[in-house]
Amino acid sequence: MEPSGSDRGGHGVIVRPVGREDAETAGRVVVAAFEAVPGAHMNGGYAAELADVAGRAKVSEVLVAVDGRDLVGCVTLVPDHRSPLAEQVEEGECQIRMMAVAPSYQGRGVGQLLLDASLQRARALGRRAVLLHSTPAMTAAHRLYQRNGFVRVPERDWLPEPDLLLIAFRLDLAASGARNAGSAW
Ligand SMILES: CC(C)(COP(=O)(O)OP(=O)(O)OC[C@H]1O[C@@H](n2cnc3c(N)ncnc32)[C@H](O)[C@@H]1OP(=O)(O)O)[C@@H](O)C(=O)NCCC(=O)NCCS
Repeated sequence: MEPSGSDRGGHGVIVRPVGREDAETAGRVVVAAFEAVPGAHMNGGYAAELADVAGRAKVSEVLVAVDGRDLVGCVTLVPDHRSPLAEQVEEGECQIRMMAVAPSYQGRGVGQLLLDASLQRARALGRRAVLLHSTPAMTAAHRLYQRNGFVRVPERDWLPEPDLLLIAFRLDLAASGARNAGSAW
């Protein structure tokens, strides 16, 4: 797989598959980003789950954003509805989970790079749609998703715990434009 990258914001950030050597750092970045968002999503040991990048990499595609030696972002692409990481995924869909950019790197286009790479992989896998869930407080993520054509699908919202509402967004890859087509990897 060829890494993809950008110089937006003056940074030469590239996105590539996570390596065994950077799984721990990636886990720390994900935990830090999620801890910075208010809400009940960190209850019930979720930090340990977020930190387990090595575990996720065994059953899904984990991509990291890297700026030189600094690992600055991470995303998990759940390949299909049969995956042990799939949550409310239907046949033909894949799922983006645990997308995170280090708080000090947010607002520079790294999230966009991670999303572009995820959508390229989703297309390469031949999926017809991408599903994801988010908490109501993750408003920067909602803007990113909606800018990229995701739409709210309230009928697929779910309540994994009584005080934790997860709201659903979905991108129909067949209907969306050519922006993310033409993947090199
Ligand atoms: C959601 C998240 C991954 C987005 O990452 P990010 O790197 O900040 O995303 P981007 O930089 O691509 O976009 C964020 C904003 O920066 C702006 N931006 C991007 N590049 C920019 C640049 N070079 N100069 C100025 N602004 C820029 C974008 O237009 C966008 O603006 P908006 O806030 O008006 O929507 C990040 O906010 C995060 O980790 N949040 C906490 C965890 C989370 O909510 N995860 C989602 C789980 S569903």
